Amino acid sequence: MNLLVTGGAGFIGSAFVRMVRRRRPADLVVNLDVLTYAGNLENLRELEHDPKHVFVRADIRERATVEQLIRGHRIEAIVNFAAESHVDRSIQSAAPFLDTNVGGTLSLLEAAQAVGGVRFLQVSTDEVYGSLGATGAFEETTPLAPRSPYSASKAAADCFAMAFHHTHGLDVVITRCSNNYGPYQFPEKLIPLMILNAFEGLPLPVYGDGLQVRDWIHVDDHCDAIDRALTGGKSGEVYNVGAENERPNVDVVKAILALTGHDDSLIRHVPDRPGHDRRYAMDARKAREQLGWRPQRDFAQGLAETVAWYRGNGAWAGRVRSGAYRDYYERQYGDRLARAAR
Ligand SMILES: NC(=O)c1ccc[n+]([C@@H]2O[C@H](COP(=O)([O-])OP(=O)(O)OC[C@H]3O[C@@H](n4cnc5c(N)ncnc54)[C@H](O)[C@@H]3O)[C@@H](O)[C@H]2O)c1
Repeated sequence: MNLLVTGGAGFIGSAFVRMVRRRRPADLVVNLDVLTYAGNLENLRELEHDPKHVFVRADIRERATVEQLIRGHRIEAIVNFAAESHVDRSIQSAAPFLDTNVGGTLSLLEAAQAVGGVRFLQVSTDEVYGSLGATGAFEETTPLAPRSPYSASKAAADCFAMAFHHTHGLDVVITRCSNNYGPYQFPEKLIPLMILNAFEGLPLPVYGDGLQVRDWIHVDDHCDAIDRALTGGKSGEVYNVGAENERPNVDVVKAILALTGHDDSLIRHVPDRPGHDRRYAMDARKAREQLGWRPQRDFAQGLAETVAWYRGNGAWAGRVRSGAYRDYYERQYGDRLARAAR
């Protein structure tokens, strides 16, 4: 299969590209990424000399370029990872989320429709379903009720993708996954942020009471589900992906402290994220039953491996945390940490 993967220089996209190249050496992967702050060619270093991996620096909103790539490389499927992906940034400024996540997805859908014969897999998130109370789990039939600018943009993209399926007959599959962790994750996200701060003995800023519950999954298990949905999923269907691994944020932080040889005294409870969703949990029975998918990574093992990966890749982490990241961190946590210390 000839694939066009968008956002393949980011955290999950690069894991997916590496997985596909390992699994199906005959497949061509055209990797389109504009390289925002979150895109990093270092994540693809092992594919540097791979003739079946073609990297193209471009924006998913450049419809003509996308169409040219689909035609030129006889693309059979598009897997759309490209997105602005961080809730906190969407609170600081929502417009890029509308532009890339909605406008960019629409541009890809139009290009796929114009060429024809292309499967479109939209990589989405549990956050489109909103927030849960103490019990229950999101099913594919749960109504969309996004509550952050990020999740609103992802929900809108999902709706456009399904609209193209119903209106234009485009072959669309959507996967919606819970929170990912693993190697190469940009350290604005909870787990790598805490790991890297802990390595330096810096305070670990935990939003509010830290009892927000997330359903953690290893990135490789997520990519396996996407690959199965891509090759075996039914057109017009949504598949939830989650590893039945719910944890309050503060417990994840404590586990990281234990793995890095610290006690809990580094934790600082800082003012909460506005509108912070309280609990996510995924019912992934459909993916298990219809795609034969099973998560392989136990959380304790996966987290220990992830801590070890960040320990062994200090140069990578040092480079991505320099410059713009420092400004972002200061903007997001500087004042919060100062208030927590008072
Ligand atoms: N991280 C999670 O826990 C999680 C969970 C479920 C779903 N998702 C979804 O998975 C996808 C990937 O998430 P991630 O965590 O790897 O994100 P990421 O921020 O690490 O990577 C996003 C990538 O998209 C690229 N990109 C951004 N705008 C672009 C544009 N206009 N044109 C081309 N490329 C562009 C960036 O350069 C970057 O390489 C996103 O769609 C996200 O919504 C993420």
